[in-house]
Amino acid sequence: MKHPHIPYARQWIADVDIQQVVDTLASDFLTTGPQIERFEAALCELTGAGHAVACSSGTAALHLACMALDIASGDTGLTSPNSFLASANCIELCGGRADFVDIDAHTLCLDPESLAAYCRSHPAPRVVIPVDFAGTPADLPAIQSLANKYGFQVIEDAAHAIGSTYSHEGSTYQCGCCSHTDLAIFSFHPAKTITCAEGGAVMTNDKILADRLRMLRNHGMVKFPELAGDAADTDLHGPWYYEMHTLGANFRITDVQCALGCSQLTHLNRFKDLRRKIVHTYNQAFKNDDRLILPPRALAENACPHLYPIQFVQGSRTRKKMFQTLADHKIFCQVHYIPIHLQPYYAKKYGYTQGKCPKAETYYSRTLSLPLFAALTRDQVAYVIKTVKDLM
Ligand SMILES: Cc1ncc(COP(=O)(O)O)c(C=O)c1O
Repeated sequence: MKHPHIPYARQWIADVDIQQVVDTLASDFLTTGPQIERFEAALCELTGAGHAVACSSGTAALHLACMALDIASGDTGLTSPNSFLASANCIELCGGRADFVDIDAHTLCLDPESLAAYCRSHPAPRVVIPVDFAGTPADLPAIQSLANKYGFQVIEDAAHAIGSTYSHEGSTYQCGCCSHTDLAIFSFHPAKTITCAEGGAVMTNDKILADRLRMLRNHGMVKFPELAGDAADTDLHGPWYYEMHTLGANFRITDVQCALGCSQLTHLNRFKDLRRKIVHTYNQAFKNDDRLILPPRALAENACPHLYPIQFVQGSRTRKKMFQTLADHKIFCQVHYIPIHLQPYYAKKYGYTQGKCPKAETYYSRTLSLPLFAALTRDQVAYVIKTVKDLM
C-alpha cells in the first residue's frame, strides 16, 4: 500500500465547515460582524471562562494579553524555554525582558519548583506564561499559589491545549478556563486541533481586562455607543465620534475565519477522540522499548493531544538520522522545540547560554514529534510505527 506524504500535522475541513465559510462570504459582514461574537460565545461555553476576545492569531493573542496587563520596560516575564518563539516574544514586544525557567522532565511544561527557586533568588517577575506543551496542562494551581505569594500575573499559553482538562482538589477544569490564571490564549493555526486558517483568542474572567482587550484589538479606540453621550453630543461631534484611549493596533479576526472556527468547534470532541486513539496506539507500540521515552502521561489520560513528541535515549544523532530516514519514507516529522533562550536574539541580548535550562536542552536534543492529526488513518499510523521500529 502507498502512503504518500504523511505530514506531522494537518487540518481536517468538513463539508459543513466549507458551507459555513461560503455562507459568511455571501453575508453582509466579512469582518466585525456576528460570527465573531458567536465564536467567542462558543469558546466561553466550552471552557467556562467569562469572556473571550477572538483575534488574528495566537501570537496576536499573547501580544494583546501582555498589553492588557501593561507589561512594559522594566518588567520581567518568565516562560517555558520549551515553546514556540511567540510565548516569549510577546513580553519583548511590550518592552519587557523575557526570561526562562526550566521544564519538568516528565510534563515537559514549566516546572513550578524551578519557578519557586527563581522567585526566591530574583526580584519577582511581573508575569509568568506557562505553556500547555503538546496538550499537557501546565501545573496551573501550583503556579497560581506562587502568583499569590510573589504577586505576579499569569497568562496560560493554551495554544496546544484546546479541549484538554486538568483536575484540582476534586474538580475538573478545561484549559483556558482562567480559574487559576488571569488570562489564557488559544491558537487556531491549521496545525492545531481546530483551525480558523489563522486565528487566536484571549480568555479571561475579568470584565475590565476583557474590555481593555477589545479596545486594544481595535487601535485602542472607543466608538460612539460605548462612549458617554456627552462626549459625542456636541456642536462639533455626532454619532460618528470615536476616541483613542490607549495605543492599540489591528489585531482583528474576520467573520469568515470565525465561521470556520464555530464549525470546527462542533468537531472538537470527535477530533479529541481520534487524536487520543492515535496516542494510545503509538504508546502501545513503543512502551516496551527502553531506547524510547514516551510523551507525558497526561497525553494518554486527560489531554486533547496536539503533538506526539517521543525521545530517543541514544541522543541527537539517532534523532537526526530518524528524522531524515523517515522523510525518505515520506513521513515528515517535526521537532518541538529549540529552547527559546538559545535563539540568537535572546542569547545576544541577555547572554543566555547552554546550561541555563538543562532539562529543556536535553529534551530538545533527542525529541521528535511523530505525525498526529485527526485524519491520520489506521494504516498510516501502522506505517509510521513499522517504519520507526524498522529503523531503531
Ligand atoms: C505554544 C504556542 N504559543 C503560541 C503560538 C502562536 O500561535 P499562532 O501560530 O496562531 O500565532 C504557537 C504556534 O505555533 C504555539 O505553539
